[in-house]
Amino acid sequence: MHFLVLPCLAAIAIDCVGARVLPSSHIVHEKRDAGSNSNWVKRDRVASHLKVPVRVGLKQNPDALEQAAQWLMDASHPESSKYGQHWTQDEVIEAFRPSTGAVDDVLNWISETAGIAKSKIVHTDNKAFLAFDASVADLESLLQTEYHEHHHEASGRAMITCDQYHIPSHLRDHIDYITPGVKGIQVKSSELTKRSFRPGHMGPGGWGSGPWGGGPGGWQPPKQRPPPFMPHPHNQLSMCDVAITPACLQALYHFRPLSPHAEVSPHNCMGIFEEGDFYAQQDLNSFFTNFTSYIPNGTHPTLDSIDGGMAPVANVSDAGGESDLDFELAIPIIYPQTTTLYQTDDYYYAEGGNGTTTGILNTFLDAIDGSYCTYSAYGETGDDSVLDPTYPDPNGYQGQLMCGVYKPTNVISISYGEQEQDLPAYYQKRQCNEYLKLGLQGVSIFVASGDTGVGGIPGDGSANGCLNNGTVFSPTQPNSCPWLTNVGATKLYPGQTVYDQESAVVDLAGHPYRSAFSSGGGFSNIFPIPSYQSSAVATYFADHNPPYPYYYNGQYNTSKGLYNRNGRGIPDVAANGDNIATYVGGKFTLEGGTSASSPIFAALVTRINEERIKIGKGPVGFINPTLYSHPEVLNDIVNGTNPGCGTAGFSCAPGWDPVTGLGTPNYPKMLGLFLSLP
Ligand SMILES: *[C@@H]1O[C@H](CO)[C@@H](O)[C@H](O)[C@H]1NC(C)=O
Ligand SMILES: *[C@@H]1O[C@H](CO)[C@@H](O)[C@H](O)[C@H]1NC(C)=O
Ligand SMILES: *[C@@H]1O[C@H](CO)[C@@H](O)[C@H](O)[C@H]1NC(C)=O
Ligand SMILES: *[C@@H]1O[C@H](CO)[C@@H](O)[C@H](O)[C@H]1NC(C)=O
Ligand SMILES: *[C@@H]1O[C@H](CO)[C@@H](O)[C@H](O)[C@H]1NC(C)=O
Ligand SMILES: *[C@@H]1O[C@H](CO)[C@@H](O)[C@H](O)[C@H]1NC(C)=O
Ligand SMILES: *[C@@H]1O[C@H](CO)[C@@H](O)[C@H](O)[C@H]1NC(C)=O
Repeated sequence: MHFLVLPCLAAIAIDCVGARVLPSSHIVHEKRDAGSNSNWVKRDRVASHLKVPVRVGLKQNPDALEQAAQWLMDASHPESSKYGQHWTQDEVIEAFRPSTGAVDDVLNWISETAGIAKSKIVHTDNKAFLAFDASVADLESLLQTEYHEHHHEASGRAMITCDQYHIPSHLRDHIDYITPGVKGIQVKSSELTKRSFRPGHMGPGGWGSGPWGGGPGGWQPPKQRPPPFMPHPHNQLSMCDVAITPACLQALYHFRPLSPHAEVSPHNCMGIFEEGDFYAQQDLNSFFTNFTSYIPNGTHPTLDSIDGGMAPVANVSDAGGESDLDFELAIPIIYPQTTTLYQTDDYYYAEGGNGTTTGILNTFLDAIDGSYCTYSAYGETGDDSVLDPTYPDPNGYQGQLMCGVYKPTNVISISYGEQEQDLPAYYQKRQCNEYLKLGLQGVSIFVASGDTGVGGIPGDGSANGCLNNGTVFSPTQPNSCPWLTNVGATKLYPGQTVYDQESAVVDLAGHPYRSAFSSGGGFSNIFPIPSYQSSAVATYFADHNPPYPYYYNGQYNTSKGLYNRNGRGIPDVAANGDNIATYVGGKFTLEGGTSASSPIFAALVTRINEERIKIGKGPVGFINPTLYSHPEVLNDIVNGTNPGCGTAGFSCAPGWDPVTGLGTPNYPKMLGLFLSLP
């Protein structure tokens, strides 16, 4: 029944739509923002007979979203009677699904208005959206809109999109959004009309979701410098102020390697995310041979290749400083437990997609949780068609986007990130919900907190990378999501030993590295302070109030403040991240960065999980609530700052601080605490 627009269907759409009268029962559901601009050019109306895939993103159960943070606390707060009771993936999907009544209302509207049989409308496995194919003409009448082609000249990509669309008002609270809609869908140019090109203009609307930002934002590789001479044998501790070896880490954090013949759980691998950076087996071999005689030559991670990601490199001179560093730190801590390498994205996209993609981590999350591939939230269903890679990729991996092909490991370490300002807030919030869901399932995720102190990456938005034309502190992401564990960097200063207290890394002069380095920290402009952190942050402000003006609710444009007083604090914890002994590219070298701190902390939690599994308990999952309740299991770091934006940054202090969080691991104390929990 096309009762809403019956007269239109018989006519040439373009004339008819002009005369279309919107039924009073309908409202505008989405409208393109005025003022957005991009390199996308609006062209012809889309041929009315073209069949397009339609997705109706359903709003998640609103009660579930409100309760989700509490569910995560129930499973991970040490005083909860449900501590350690993680959820299965099916339980997570079931809890967040929209109500049956809501789904039926939307189904009835589609089938009655567009004349599409309900049997042809798929309710996806994750319950998050309805999918069907429709002709452009039917969809235009369903949504009371008209579709135009948009072309991206530089890349040759083409999209179908509209400026606004309508739905019956009673469905407003059930539907998140619809594609194609204001958010376009990509189509092959060959599917589109071949009518002559009329240079379009964006009019007042513009293209809503064009490539964002642009500047050289993005992940910074760990810093490298030539080493001094190395002491022999390497297990001596007299030179830990010069180079951090596995023996230095053991002494600093009070743990011993496992016996190389120990029986370990095959299901407790440690996962490490890499993208656009690749390990070399020769480097790992050199490292193990020189520094860890208990690890056999040839030891390597298990490759979980995501969307064409490949490793290791064939030629050691192509080795990446991040990947080599991660595995040379993690394997010596957890061996004979094994590592899983999540090598993400084909080479074309891993190297930036020729400047087109600035998103991060979505394709990785798709691969370890299939429900995320089609997850609808904040106006986005599935990956971002502009910011994220699109598969099959004509320039690389020819397969479909990988969805749920790998099980997430109990612990995942990520030494990559950007600044909050580099990605839209909706992108970060949608991704943050996924971290919460992974936490519910017992996965611990560790992320390096960034290497530019309170500032941003120079050149990203402003000369020094800071907000508001270079004045306001720039928080890092994905770190600002409250459901991750962020790891800052510490160091030993010259002349200090493993028996001294570490300090926060601060190296403003860029010596001996080529650029300044201070441990990333501060307060999110997007995410509020989570409950588990609120008293730690309040204590910091009460006892060690920073000497800077501040603002509230992320409003950095509207005041003279430098940081968000009620934002999620970063980092949560810290570990050594300077002068790390590594082999990279066939050479012995020293590396620095919070890139090193994350795998160190994550590896120790993998060890704790192993001990829990041995006595019949489960993995620890999201550890922040436990650590904030028991800061005594960490070595409090009280010296150092994290300069940036022309300021000294924040200062370390007794207790939590936005430089080194709660501190570095005291392994025996952490182990004892987590073994005592259910
Ligand atoms: C690694 O071991 C080789 C062979 O023993 C030795 O020549 C080399 O100096 C060592 N490298 C380092 C950094 O200790
Ligand atoms: C490690 O293995 C590689 C490749 O098999 C070999 O070339 C190298 O000599 C080995 N190194 C040692 C110390 O056994
Ligand atoms: C490895 O790469 C280097 C530098 O590009 C090159 O000189 C060398 O010939 C390559 N080695 C092999 C075996 O391809
Ligand atoms: C990358 O972009 C440049 C210019 O923007 C273009 O000339 C080149 O063909 C593009 N390469 C690919 C593989 O798309
Ligand atoms: C931004 O800062 C630069 C350098 O301090 C200055 O020249 C420029 O006028 C500022 N722009 C705005 C919009 O304040
Ligand atoms: C802050 O101002 C900048 C430029 O002045 C603008 O691009 C940005 O969208 C503003 N951000 C907010 C949150 O208003
Ligand atoms: C404290 O940190 C500063 C750098 O911020 C460093 O120069 C100094 O040596 C550190 N002091 C101690 C006792 O570690």
